[in-house]
Amino acid sequence: MDKSLILLSIVLIFISNIESQETIRPTVLWHGIGDTCCYPFSMGRMKKLIEANLEGIYVYSVEVGDSIAADEFNSYFMNVNDQIDQMCAKFKANGNLTNGFNAVGFSQGSQFLRAYNERCNDPPIYNLITLGGQHQGVYGLPDTCLSMNGTICQMVRDLLDLGVYESFVQDHLVPAEYWQDSLNYDEYLEKSVFIADINNARSQKNSTYYKNFISLNKLVLVKFNNDTIVIPRESEWFGFYTPGSDKDIQTMEETDLYIEDWIGLRYLDENGQVIKLSTDGNHLQFTDDWFVQNILTPYLNNTI
Ligand SMILES: *[C@@H]1O[C@H](CO)[C@@H](O)[C@H](O)[C@H]1NC(C)=O
Ligand SMILES: *[C@@H]1O[C@H](CO)[C@@H](O)[C@H](O)[C@H]1NC(C)=O
Ligand SMILES: *[C@@H]1O[C@H](CO)[C@@H](O)[C@H](O)[C@H]1NC(C)=O
Ligand SMILES: *[C@@H]1O[C@H](CO)[C@@H](O)[C@H](O)[C@H]1NC(C)=O
Repeated sequence: MDKSLILLSIVLIFISNIESQETIRPTVLWHGIGDTCCYPFSMGRMKKLIEANLEGIYVYSVEVGDSIAADEFNSYFMNVNDQIDQMCAKFKANGNLTNGFNAVGFSQGSQFLRAYNERCNDPPIYNLITLGGQHQGVYGLPDTCLSMNGTICQMVRDLLDLGVYESFVQDHLVPAEYWQDSLNYDEYLEKSVFIADINNARSQKNSTYYKNFISLNKLVLVKFNNDTIVIPRESEWFGFYTPGSDKDIQTMEETDLYIEDWIGLRYLDENGQVIKLSTDGNHLQFTDDWFVQNILTPYLNNTI
């Protein structure tokens, strides 16, 4: 054979090898409040579970700040918008995520990943799965403090006492940034630094949020039927209190966010791309088997 033909066939074999090599899409996890990237009983366990079931997968568990202690502290007290900016930079700089990834949010990590999708999405999220997220925010906190650390609990109480929409509190207390006071809706619209923004609730809508959100392949919303932490728990499915009430609940389909399609949720839903799952149990209570069967196998087991 002629030299150039040999070279050509080597090149062709090389190319066909590349094409047939399918890479499993990476998964990114974003933990909830009081949690961190790597505690062995929480995100560490999830990372191992995914790696054990999907051979060769790259799993990145979000760490906000540069230590475990900072990560936990930031989950209470770091301005969420700054947290999103930090992840936009971190994900983009991570060569293992270049071709996009699936994302699994735990509790408040859910709406933070959605904010990443709406604002940055570079690299893009393919399937976004949210477990017990507060997509419409919360109006109320559970009686029990979520931290084992008494100092943190006291700081949360002191900040809340100042008033949830005080600008200092909006800048420093994470749950305040996704607080939707349904009895004072106008004040919420005016002062909420995070959730009103990513829900495009104000009169001026950001079309980038819509464009990025409808680029998702699937949006999977998991609600915990017996959740006593998220108030109201319907927020996990984009439902919430009817404006002007702290008792009556609107389903996702009854909210203005959906009807007027502020972020593209209705568009995705009408195209069959929104999947609502529910499971009995309190906040984030599920078994490994449940996760593998309902989340991992259908939504994380795909290739780029
Ligand atoms: C990318 O993935 C490889 C293989 O799993 C790993 O060794 C490396 O540390 C990862 N890089 C980052 C930035 O996580
Ligand atoms: C809309 O969001 C994008 C992405 O975060 C931002 O760059 C842009 O400034 C926003 N537009 C307006 C009008 O706020
Ligand atoms: C409790 O949190 C405070 C504030 O972050 C920190 O200074 C302190 O070391 C923590 N205590 C324990 C026991 O972790
Ligand atoms: C959890 O909620 C479901 C649905 O509302 C209900 O059927 C079930 O009885 C509840 N379980 C417990 C232990 O309260």
